[in-house]
Amino acid sequence: MSDETEISALLRAAAGASGLAPRDHWEDQAARALRAIAEQRGATVSALLRDPEGRPSLVSELLDHLTIGETYFFRHASHFDVLLEALSARLADPLATACVLSAGCATGEEPYSVAIAIHARLGAQALARVRIVAADISAASIRKARAAVYGAWAFRDAPAWLEPRYFARGAGPGRRLVDVIRRAVTFEVGHVVHHAAGLPSGSVDAVLFRNVAIYLAPQAIADAYAEFHRALGPHGLLFVAPADPRPDGARFVEAGHETTSVYRPRAAAAEPHAEPAPPSRRARLAARLRRDARLLKKGPPPASSKRPAARAAAPAPRAAAPAPRAAAPALDARAAAARAAALADRGDLAAAVAATAALIEQPATAPAGYLLRAQVSMAGDRAGAAVEDLRRALFLRPEHLLARYWYVLALRGDGQLAQAIQQARVLEELLTKSAAEARLEDGETTARELLDALRLLRGGFT
Ligand SMILES: C[S@@+](CC[C@H](N)C(=O)[O-])C[C@H]1O[C@@H](n2cnc3c(N)ncnc32)[C@H](O)[C@@H]1O
Repeated sequence: MSDETEISALLRAAAGASGLAPRDHWEDQAARALRAIAEQRGATVSALLRDPEGRPSLVSELLDHLTIGETYFFRHASHFDVLLEALSARLADPLATACVLSAGCATGEEPYSVAIAIHARLGAQALARVRIVAADISAASIRKARAAVYGAWAFRDAPAWLEPRYFARGAGPGRRLVDVIRRAVTFEVGHVVHHAAGLPSGSVDAVLFRNVAIYLAPQAIADAYAEFHRALGPHGLLFVAPADPRPDGARFVEAGHETTSVYRPRAAAAEPHAEPAPPSRRARLAARLRRDARLLKKGPPPASSKRPAARAAAPAPRAAAPAPRAAAPALDARAAAARAAALADRGDLAAAVAATAALIEQPATAPAGYLLRAQVSMAGDRAGAAVEDLRRALFLRPEHLLARYWYVLALRGDGQLAQAIQQARVLEELLTKSAAEARLEDGETTARELLDALRLLRGGFT
């Protein structure tokens, strides 16, 4: 394949991983970025493009170049007045806590402005009661956000008191944010939709999704607004920038502030599209989880003539010698998986769980059954139950690579971060020993695809 074809494939992967709408200038930008990356690594562009091991980090580095990270402190200043008014009302109850999400936070000026505004106007005690979470698809931006050192340009529209009160000048030209504010924000590398999907329903008081949607493809915008609607509490607020695409009227309504880019979620009962019944939010999450499990699937599978046997029989992982499996139970497993997925899509998670019972009863299909039940539990925000089921699956089939991947996700969802990181290491080791193109237990995902996904996931742990 030519370099141009490889670059196009890389750009498709970058668009798929980020939801960014491809732009005309991407090819040129990617070519320039790849030359810079190759020089940094002491390699050639062709060698980079043909190294499957390096592909996930290449996609991630490419996203650093394709994204527009423009931001500054107290951008759209009136939003902070509206936000502070809402937070001060919420925190008037001495036992209340709050959560603010900065979705597409770039180098951190936005979520830090939130923390500073709370600290300056409501005090340190109030700030301690607000959880501020922020995510961006660009790993380089998040590294800068965590470092929290800023040049003068970041203060171009900031109030005069900001710099002397909240920043210290060091030896270099940058101003370093004080620790009390730096520690108030938690950053994650990731897609806004996936990041928001990890937040419990109704747990968020405000989402700042400003100057991000303008760069996204329509589906990613719709997914993001759907996730924010689910995550926001009934009195929550959604802030978008004046030039951003508006959220859909079925889910959000203008909050009635002077600034027209602040929205409130509509109550679920008031949603006009009740007929026919939309899939439940949990079912939509289930669908997303299953999509994730198929992981970065790229195009049609290779021509069957190349490896007929591998697709006809239920493929076994190459990481360890699995017990031989008869074809019939594997087909049953697929049919049961399809049944459970259909039930989850209809929002009937209880029936989806029940559909896994037959599998769990059979020793040959029990690991697949536990895996399915865990996926449904994850869709129902029950990561703890998923952890238990995945432990059972891995006890029966320690070499089950997809089950171990889900175990990592479930541990992370259950807040067991250290164990999640440890399991991610174990899985990475198993996957690097597998043949890159070996099909995993679902018969679709390859070892390389799972490794790509795992590395992207691990990037978000740090
Ligand atoms: C122009 S900046 C906006 C920063 C900040 N929200 C503001 O208004 O100042 C856009 C940011 O969105 C990020 N971004 C784009 N697509 C994203 C996605 N799918 N998930 C997370 N971040 C994304 C980019 O990396 C970039 O840092």
